[in-house]
Amino acid sequence: MTFNRIGLVLAIVSSLSCVSQAVYKSSEKFKKKGSFECPMEYGVFANPTNCRRFYTCNGNVVYDTPCPTPLYFDDAKKLCVYKTSELQCGPLALTTPAPTTPDPNAAPGCYPPACKLPDCFCSEDGTQIPGNLLPKETPQMIILTFSGALNVLNGEPFSYLLNETRLNPNGCPIKGTFFLPHEYTSYYYVQKLYGQGHEIAAETITMREPEDYWSSASTDEWLEEVIGMKEILHTFANVSREDITGMRAPFLKPGGNNMMSVVYDYGLDYDSSLAAPFSEVPIWPYTLDFQHPHKCSSGHCPTRSFPGIWEFPLNTFAAGDDTGSNCVFLDQCVFPEDPEPIFEFMSYNFLRHYTTNKAPFVMNFHVNWMTDESKVTALDVFIDHVLETYPDVWFVTMQEAIQWMRNPVPSEVAKSFEGWKCPRTRMPGCNIPRTCRVKLQDNTRSDIRYLQLCGKCPERYPWLHNIRGKKEGKRVKDLVQKSTT
Ligand SMILES: *[C@@H]1O[C@H](CO)[C@@H](O)[C@H](O)[C@H]1NC(C)=O
Ligand SMILES: *[C@@H]1O[C@H](CO)[C@@H](O)[C@H](O)[C@H]1NC(C)=O
Repeated sequence: MTFNRIGLVLAIVSSLSCVSQAVYKSSEKFKKKGSFECPMEYGVFANPTNCRRFYTCNGNVVYDTPCPTPLYFDDAKKLCVYKTSELQCGPLALTTPAPTTPDPNAAPGCYPPACKLPDCFCSEDGTQIPGNLLPKETPQMIILTFSGALNVLNGEPFSYLLNETRLNPNGCPIKGTFFLPHEYTSYYYVQKLYGQGHEIAAETITMREPEDYWSSASTDEWLEEVIGMKEILHTFANVSREDITGMRAPFLKPGGNNMMSVVYDYGLDYDSSLAAPFSEVPIWPYTLDFQHPHKCSSGHCPTRSFPGIWEFPLNTFAAGDDTGSNCVFLDQCVFPEDPEPIFEFMSYNFLRHYTTNKAPFVMNFHVNWMTDESKVTALDVFIDHVLETYPDVWFVTMQEAIQWMRNPVPSEVAKSFEGWKCPRTRMPGCNIPRTCRVKLQDNTRSDIRYLQLCGKCPERYPWLHNIRGKKEGKRVKDLVQKSTT
């Protein structure tokens, strides 16, 4: 009995993680007449007419799921079990919806009179432009973001995609933002991209699975993982601490208030982890003084107020045809092996921003995008196309986008905007990286790892609870002070 229960819990967990990895299907598909309506945004619920099946709601998207034969869904236990006299086919009345009890300390909804730039920005539906600019006065920001371990397998295409010959309207090279995890990352490539002026931001050290771990990780766990990652980037790629100001949660599984309180308490400026469902008019970034203005379509969104912290929500991309394909990371949509439809998909989604409210077009890629020739070509053509076609398009980093939102200036004067001046030169890394062969030791294993960097080799593979790579590890908690903002 116990065995089967565990089996099913695992099945549910893995079916949820497929959802986040694979193609997001349009929720319209699931909202056929008479179909199931989620009583809560997240959870598993009895099928009222068939005890062999149940529904999973993931951000109000419904998945109709069968129990493995010969099990039945027990609505009290929320599990598939053998049929006994104790089986309770549902639906049972929703008595105490524990996980969605309203938070008594929840942030209020956007209240514009109490929210003034530069430190606070919100609008009721999230679609307003900062500074009340008109769309035609607003420069169109495009933010290329890359998540995942940067290394020799995917690092090369950046030298031509983000080549210094590609220029914004003010004559400065275009820039991108990298969200880096630790494992398999080459700090040689990180230092190189940082030296060229790109933005380096933190993902987490371990990217551990199951993915749902992150939705419920504690404040201490987020601290060790995210601020630990920031320290590793500083130590092993010589990225200045002041330049690492943002984070992104792994697997689109933000950890609600626990995660955001680490962003707030440890001096980061922004997060970019909250996925927003598809909308015809996209959502602008906002500060977390007030409640987020969109549904939370993955993981846990914060409910509390984190004044002055910017959130770059991940607007959902959708196909212009009737395939219903939609995704938050471009690599999670399914494309044929042909650059043209991929380019069309990018252009179609870009125009939804450009022709409505000019919300920053944040293009989210995992670094594995770079290992597929048609995908790299499509992005290459797209960058040229928009730079040649639209005089008010700018490829900026998230930090540069914040600068503009804090102090919005119209397109016609953006060329002299201080925050978008060419960045000061930074120390280049090295031409030839060093490869260190070091031991990764934690409670469960002792493996050999290869670590690529420009500086000195550490004694151990840097890891959770040992961010400096010493013989004896220390916790971030004992090394880093809370910021006194
Ligand atoms: C930009 O492209 C040129 C020509 O392909 C190349 O020589 C140069 O190294 C590239 N720049 C960077 C920073 O990779
Ligand atoms: C690290 O960067 C600083 C500037 O931020 C520079 O002064 C220093 O020489 C760099 N160290 C190495 C080892 O590259």
